[in-house]
Amino acid sequence: GAPVEVDVGDIPVGTMKTVEWRGKPVWIMHRSPEQLAGLKTLDPLLADPHSKRPGFTPAYAENEGRSRKPELFVCVGICTHLGCSPTSHFETGGGGGLGADWQGGFLCPCHGSTFDLAGRVFKNKPAPDNLEVPPYQYLSDTRIIVG
Ligand code: FES
Repeated sequence: GAPVEVDVGDIPVGTMKTVEWRGKPVWIMHRSPEQLAGLKTLDPLLADPHSKRPGFTPAYAENEGRSRKPELFVCVGICTHLGCSPTSHFETGGGGGLGADWQGGFLCPCHGSTFDLAGRVFKNKPAPDNLEVPPYQYLSDTRIIVG
């Protein structure tokens, strides 16, 4: 599969776009400062909060936001359990019946795994690992290349 260039300058804060790379959905989300601040509070609830498990997080994404730049989150939108595609839920405050700790993120409809806004999986869910961060680079402030 060829690398995919993406314009990331037109993604409103709090929303994301999806592109296809190697037949997989890749999500590109523009996170707000509030959403980024919320990530820190979730660490105790996560299976691998610092993304230390090999194979899912490139070295440049071994940080709180799992990204090259904090505001832009890039990941492969495929559940690490059995490969379903999670859905985005950006409401906060226990939206969707997902619990008081829920600050928005992604929910896998197949077996209920939940992920935060950095694709980190919550504890005691079927999915064993965080969502995969693909290889990507910035070409300019508003363009990235995935792959
Ligand atoms: Fe996502 Fe099972 S495939 S929880």
